[in-house]
Order: sequence, then structure tokens, then C-alpha cells
Amino acid sequence: MPTLLITGANRGIGLAMVGSFAIDGWKVHACCRHPERAKELRSMEGNITIHKLDVADELKVASLARELIDEPVDLLINNAGYYGEKTPFGETDYEDWMHHFKVNTMGPMRMAEAFVRHVGASEKKLIVNISSKVGSVGENTSGNSYPYRSSKCALNMVTKSLSIDLAERDITVLALHPGWVQTEMGGPDALISTAKSVSGLRKVIAKAGKEQTGQFINYDGTQIPW
Ligand SMILES: NC(=O)c1ccc[n+]([C@@H]2O[C@H](COP(=O)([O-])OP(=O)(O)OC[C@H]3O[C@@H](n4cnc5c(N)ncnc54)[C@H](OP(=O)(O)O)[C@@H]3O)[C@@H](O)[C@H]2O)c1
Repeated sequence: MPTLLITGANRGIGLAMVGSFAIDGWKVHACCRHPERAKELRSMEGNITIHKLDVADELKVASLARELIDEPVDLLINNAGYYGEKTPFGETDYEDWMHHFKVNTMGPMRMAEAFVRHVGASEKKLIVNISSKVGSVGENTSGNSYPYRSSKCALNMVTKSLSIDLAERDITVLALHPGWVQTEMGGPDALISTAKSVSGLRKVIAKAGKEQTGQFINYDGTQIPW
């Protein structure tokens, strides 16, 4: 059975992803910052191993990569994400902006660098970065959210460059938008459940190959403008 490695697995879309892949028999390495508090994740059935991981912690990412050195990873999902307090123009919190970049942009890059050999040694060879439509320049009609928007926009550029640089290793790299999802980040007004989002994302992932590498795709399979 294939192997999934996923970050931010304790709640929201990440937790739903773990459940969905585990029920299909995948081996899952589920990473989260506080395994001791991840009650729902710990109670999930299947071949799931939980790892303590903060994607902004370079040493911890490197140490997990060493721990799993002999483990081919078919699918790396960089799901962990951060959306801080919205501040109006004129009240920007620059330290908080930097934290968005550390988690949303550099986190996935750090994971890709640390786990490229694990992914390259697998059968499926897929890296999925969970981005956001909010990071699309073309779709930005409402402004604001400078830190989150720019960190996801930069993640899209990271995805495109990775798709080019890792093509010679046959690794496919995608930026996926999960929809506006009912999670802590998406809030109560969000349009779709985690189940609907994950079901759509899984269809996109299942179809992904060389032709799709470097693309920015919605959970319903449609392309999103950069
Ligand atoms: N929900 C939406 O409508 C929506 C729309 C577009 C894109 N997205 C993206 O989808 C992904 C999942 O979001 P979600 O809606 O499931 O959000 P969520 O419920 O707020 O979950 C965010 C996850 O990221 C983890 N995380 C935050 N900082 C981290 C760090 N430094 N290291 C490791 N993990 C960290 C959180 O862990 P803790 O519990 O420890 O904080 C949590 O597991 C994110 O990348 C988000 O940007 C969501």
C-alpha cells in the first residue's frame, strides 16, 4: 500500500485527509505540533503513525527526515497553514507577516527539501502543496489580508519552481485550493465540509501526473489563474 506523509494532521482538512487515506489502507505518517493534544487523530483507525512536527522548525524537520530515511513517501501533503489576525491597512504586524511566510511558504519548501529522496524513492512521486485561491493575483478583487495572500502567492511560485527542478526525478508537484472549507480557519460561514473538500482533492491527486505538474488546481478539478 502507498504511503502518505502529511503536516497539520490534527484538525481541519489535514485530519480529514488522514481519515480518508487510512480507511483506504494507506500507510499514514501524520505530523502535528502537539500529538499529546491530538485526541481525534490518536483515536483514528488504520496504519497511522503520529509524529511531533512544527514545519517552521528546521532541526525537527531534518530529524524526522532522518528517522524515516528508509521510508518511500508516495505522497507528501504540505497542509499545515497559518492565517493570523486580519489587520487593516496602516496596522500591519510585520512579525506576524514573517510567521505566515515561515509556515505557509518556507514550511512546504523545507519539507520538500528534507523529503525529496523519500518521495523520489516511491512509486507515485507526488508533492501536494495546499495553497489558496486567496493567493491568486488574478482572482484578487477584495484586497486586504496582505500576509496570508502573499505567503500563499509565494507558495504558488515555490510550487512552480519545484515542478521544474524536480521533473528530472519524475516528481509531480501541485498547488491545490481546497475550497472554502468549514474548519477553524475557514470559519462557520464556509461553503463546504472537510469531507467534500477531501473527496475533491483526492480525485485531483489521483489523476495527477507529469502533465499536471506545476499547476494550480481547485478541489473541483478546475484550473485557477495565478
Ligand atoms: N479552510 C479553508 O477555507 C481554506 C481555504 C484555502 C486554503 N486553506 C488551507 O488549507 C490548509 C489546512 O487548513 P484548515 O482549514 O484545515 O485550517 P485549520 O483547521 O486552522 O488547521 C491548520 C493546521 O495547520 C497546523 N499548523 C499551523 N501552524 C503550524 C506549524 N508551524 N507547524 C505545523 N503545523 C502547523 C495547525 O496545527 P495546530 O492545531 O497545532 O495549530 C492545524 O493542524 C492550510 O494550508 C490553509 O491555508 C484552507
